[in-house]
Amino acid sequence: MTKAIVIHEYGGPEVLKWEDVEVGAPGPGQVRIRQEAIGLNFRDTYHRSGSYGVPGDKFPAILGSEGAGVIEAMGEGVTGLHVGQRVTTCNGIIGAYSQIRNAKAENVLSLPDEIPFDTAAAAMFKGITAHYLIRQSYEVKKGETILIQAVAGGVGLIMCQWAKQLGATVIGTVGSAAKAEIAGNYGCDHIINYSEEDFAERVREITDGEGVPVVYDGVGLATYEGSLDCLANRGYLIGYGNASGNFPHVDPMDLMYNGSLYFQRASLRHFIRNRAELENATGELMPLLADGSIKVEIGHAYDLKDAAQAHQDLETRKTTGSVIFKP
Ligand SMILES: NC(=O)c1ccc[n+]([C@@H]2O[C@H](COP(=O)([O-])OP(=O)(O)OC[C@H]3O[C@@H](n4cnc5c(N)ncnc54)[C@H](OP(=O)(O)O)[C@@H]3O)[C@@H](O)[C@H]2O)c1
Repeated sequence: MTKAIVIHEYGGPEVLKWEDVEVGAPGPGQVRIRQEAIGLNFRDTYHRSGSYGVPGDKFPAILGSEGAGVIEAMGEGVTGLHVGQRVTTCNGIIGAYSQIRNAKAENVLSLPDEIPFDTAAAAMFKGITAHYLIRQSYEVKKGETILIQAVAGGVGLIMCQWAKQLGATVIGTVGSAAKAEIAGNYGCDHIINYSEEDFAERVREITDGEGVPVVYDGVGLATYEGSLDCLANRGYLIGYGNASGNFPHVDPMDLMYNGSLYFQRASLRHFIRNRAELENATGELMPLLADGSIKVEIGHAYDLKDAAQAHQDLETRKTTGSVIFKP
């Protein structure tokens, strides 16, 4: 028996239950991992509420997209991994909210000694998200000025540092003065508190009226119109999350009147479709985490049993940086 956070229905944080579960021996092609740290992601709240749901709407379900730990048993036919190995799982397959879990070996990556378990749990899923956003959805180029909404969050701080390394100037929005300070500590060049200021107006001022070539928006409903107003002619709005609610239906005429714009609602699963794409992303991310080029702000660490509290804090904008669970 092990303990896990389980849901039996969709709903608010209260549906997250701390229960005994039987993990059993790993099946063919699987390994059993004793987890040392688990990541909280905003998307976990969409799985919990039913907005994304869980695969096949099958209950009971264990949420959680990223974690790190040590292999303690191997299933039949697994090669290239061994008992005692430090590993991470991060490609978005749910099941991480558990002290012990079985995972398909094809989703398990070796974790270099230089990357602590907590860092991996805080940054692997968020980091491969940042990777596809700034390298593939829209490729950030040296000398560009870009806008990242909610820059003091988990994905936001990683994206900010990565874009800076690519030679971009980063404008970031935040919801409070405390978050502004954190964004500054991670190199954000221009910080706008969008609870107090009109962010589109400020972006126009900062860019001498030009606007930015790309806005990365994981906030959604509350920022959509303002994000369009920030874009330069033929700019890209990359929507990748709904923290404030879903993006509204996009009117193509809005895209035309605002400057022949592009809108993409991006999802990791269309960029990490197989092992080769996973290794490509983590192959770029891990060295940056290992040598400290990308630093990870672990704003909060909760006991796994307190997952409901963590979800509530994330959804009410109380968290900063990445949040992890200790099993
Ligand atoms: N599409 C993908 O492939 C993919 C993959 C991973 C993550 N995501 C998305 O990336 C975004 C960031 O994820 P994360 O886990 O790093 O979360 P996070 O950014 O740490 O937390 C979300 C932040 O959104 C801001 N926010 C603005 N309005 C909000 C509202 N009404 N309710 C709640 N938050 C609000 C808050 O920052 P302020 O207080 O500063 O406004 C909050 O801290 C999420 O939208 C997530 O779904 C997408």
